[in-house]
Amino acid sequence: MNQYSSVATVKTLSITDLAAMKQRGEKISCLTAYDAAFSALIDKVGIDMILVGDSLGMVIQGHSTTLPVTVRDMTYHARCVSSARQRAFVIADLPFMSYSSPIMAAQNAAKLMQVGGAQMVKLEGPRIDCVSFLVDQGIPVCGHLGLLPQSINQLGGYKVQGKERAAAEKILADAHQLQQAGAGLLVLECVPSVLAQAISSQLSIPVIGIGAGVDCDGQVLVLYDMLNIGTVKRPRFSKNFMADAANIEEAIHAYHQAVKQSRFPAAEHSF
Ligand code: KIV
Repeated sequence: MNQYSSVATVKTLSITDLAAMKQRGEKISCLTAYDAAFSALIDKVGIDMILVGDSLGMVIQGHSTTLPVTVRDMTYHARCVSSARQRAFVIADLPFMSYSSPIMAAQNAAKLMQVGGAQMVKLEGPRIDCVSFLVDQGIPVCGHLGLLPQSINQLGGYKVQGKERAAAEKILADAHQLQQAGAGLLVLECVPSVLAQAISSQLSIPVIGIGAGVDCDGQVLVLYDMLNIGTVKRPRFSKNFMADAANIEEAIHAYHQAVKQSRFPAAEHSF
């Protein structure tokens, strides 16, 4: 039990708990974390999910993209995070080029789960082959559509995706295919709110938005952006929760409450 919850439990959340939250209309809160100290604090506040994102390449390692991040890096940081939390569901990213084939995806996902302690792995793009193979091996998968940071050199910049009708229809079709292949969650990054709303209402799996509007089933932010301690400019879809907080714990609590009460993201953080 902690100061923010009235339920005395330290049971770790499962994918079925998250699916049940969508069913009953409870918003899912998620933040990234890369180390034990932040993992424990985020968990104490009651955030539902922690994403060990390959954004660590930018916010921890100081690279300009996520591309240099390795499976070894991800496994190490996933271990740090998973060992320090009690309740939060932990997802770890499969980094760039670690899922070029379904076999490679399974071998690397095994490291993130067996050594890193992750409960689910996330991969970018409509990689239906990898998703169905992983799911067949008993590995829970989170899809990621919209802005795909690992494809930044193809996309030509960190831009909103799915603005044109054909692009929006492709993202919608990919989302259905990922669910059909067995993905248990979907992250939608930087897409118009109206598209994210359609996807969230059509899919039965929880859809977690980042720059995708308030109608997603949950929200994720990069921790260092919302604490305003990043080394690069905070993206428009994020918010500095430290601005009105006395300390980091208060800022994380304010974010958690804002997500639960559908007060974040506001229109100014959406497209
Ligand atoms: O790596 C990451 O932090 C992510 C989020 C931006 C969703 O994938």
